[in-house]
Amino acid sequence: MILTILFVMLAEILIFLPSIGNFRRNWLAERLSAAQIAALAVEAAPNNKIPETLRKELLDQAQVYSVAVKHNNQRHLILRSPMPALKVDVYDLRNQNFFSLIWDAIKVYIQPENTMISVLGKPAMSKVEFVEVLMVQAPLKKAMISFALNILGLSILISIITAALVYLTLNYLLVRPIGLLTENMMSFSENPEDPDKKIIPSGRSDEIGTVENELLSMQTDLSTMLAQKTRLANLGAAISKVNHDLRNMLGTAQLVSDRLSNVNDPTVQRVTPRLVRSIDRAIKLCSDTLQYGKSETQAPSRTHFKLRPLIEEVMEELGLPRRGLDVKINIEDEAVVYGDHDLLYRVFSNLIRNSAQAIEAEDYPADSAAKEKLNGSAHSGDQSPKVVISVMPEGNKLVIDIIDNGPGLPAAARAHLFEAFKGSYRKGGSGLGLAIAAEIIAAHKGQIDCLEGEKGAHFRVQLPQNGKAD
Ligand SMILES: Nc1ncnc2c1ncn2[C@@H]1O[C@H](COP(=O)(O)OP(=O)(O)OP(=O)(O)O)[C@@H](O)[C@H]1O
Ligand SMILES: [Mg+2]
Repeated sequence: MILTILFVMLAEILIFLPSIGNFRRNWLAERLSAAQIAALAVEAAPNNKIPETLRKELLDQAQVYSVAVKHNNQRHLILRSPMPALKVDVYDLRNQNFFSLIWDAIKVYIQPENTMISVLGKPAMSKVEFVEVLMVQAPLKKAMISFALNILGLSILISIITAALVYLTLNYLLVRPIGLLTENMMSFSENPEDPDKKIIPSGRSDEIGTVENELLSMQTDLSTMLAQKTRLANLGAAISKVNHDLRNMLGTAQLVSDRLSNVNDPTVQRVTPRLVRSIDRAIKLCSDTLQYGKSETQAPSRTHFKLRPLIEEVMEELGLPRRGLDVKINIEDEAVVYGDHDLLYRVFSNLIRNSAQAIEAEDYPADSAAKEKLNGSAHSGDQSPKVVISVMPEGNKLVIDIIDNGPGLPAAARAHLFEAFKGSYRKGGSGLGLAIAAEIIAAHKGQIDCLEGEKGAHFRVQLPQNGKAD
């Protein structure tokens, strides 16, 4: 509202300047006309003589001290009264332009009231060349001040009316709808799942209407997603509980199946190893699922430790190297890594197990003759199945490569490799191993990638190594 008042006042000033120039010119032109009529009255008298009282009255009427008229190329001083001897400013109304009119008008406000001015001009519809009057500026200044005050009052009135109208319009068209939008956003963010908190579009066709529609569709998407996430979270929690109990039950089954292997029945001896393996896999699936559920909140507690013993520990757990599967560790004894020991153990255990499983699955069925044959053809020449683990520092990162010369990743597996339950293309696989590894590495602010290799699989883990070795 204040801005509108200011802008209207500014516009009024721009209008005021030319109009005050005009006002002054018209006022002076009126004086000239009155003076000329007085001069005509004098010229009509015999010998141009008029009584003193009449002369004074004529000059007072025209508000001038003296009147001179030029016609027939001669200037006649027709009326004159005693006047103070002061400096006189001369203005010729016949040749004035837009700017000089404005400047002369401004001068009236600045100069003192008793300034004497001599004004020349040609009254409309008269035969004389010019009429010249001598006058004091006071009455002109008075008239101009009252004119300016009138305009000021009018401007204030117009400003206030305009500002009020603009204010009301803006308020109705913009401020109120934006306020409602803000209010809705705030109440929605308090409880995004409540369908009643969504905005109800007003149906406007302008930008505000578009914003309302976009907000509604965003809110709808968001609340659907939230509802879905809540359902999934509940489901996950339920599965975790089921898993937990299932793992305990499977533990009991494992104990019983271990005993079974002591029974001397040939049929029992034949099926027990398969039973044990299945139960082992089931237990691993339960543990992995449980750990996946937990790992999101688990922050790594990092220390400096030697990498080689960790890898060796993993190999021991996996029973590597074993017949038909070689492992090469290109890691110096002194190589130190900065990270969470147990979490990184799980990462390398998953990666190396994947390689071993891939290589051994390729050799299936596992009778040694077929194995030799496959080795010969699949691993071109003398390359025996092998996993190579190597490490090298790169800037302030440690780059750890796990490379095998197995069958490589199926193309379909690459698409969702690091997503839980999606990446598995292995018989009996749950698709959690790489997802867990990726999450752990992300928690270390590192990176895990599956690089394109000519043959086999190449996984690269990069771990930032800020901090000094102990
Ligand atoms: N070294 C590898 N060589 C060939 N394929 C691999 C290799 N590593 C992973 N893969 C492929 O990627 C898939 C996903 O691996 P991931 O470890 O996530 O799951 P999984 O091994 O199937 O199950 P889990 O590890 O949970 O028991 C595997 O099923 C396999 O198809
Ligand atoms: Mg795996």
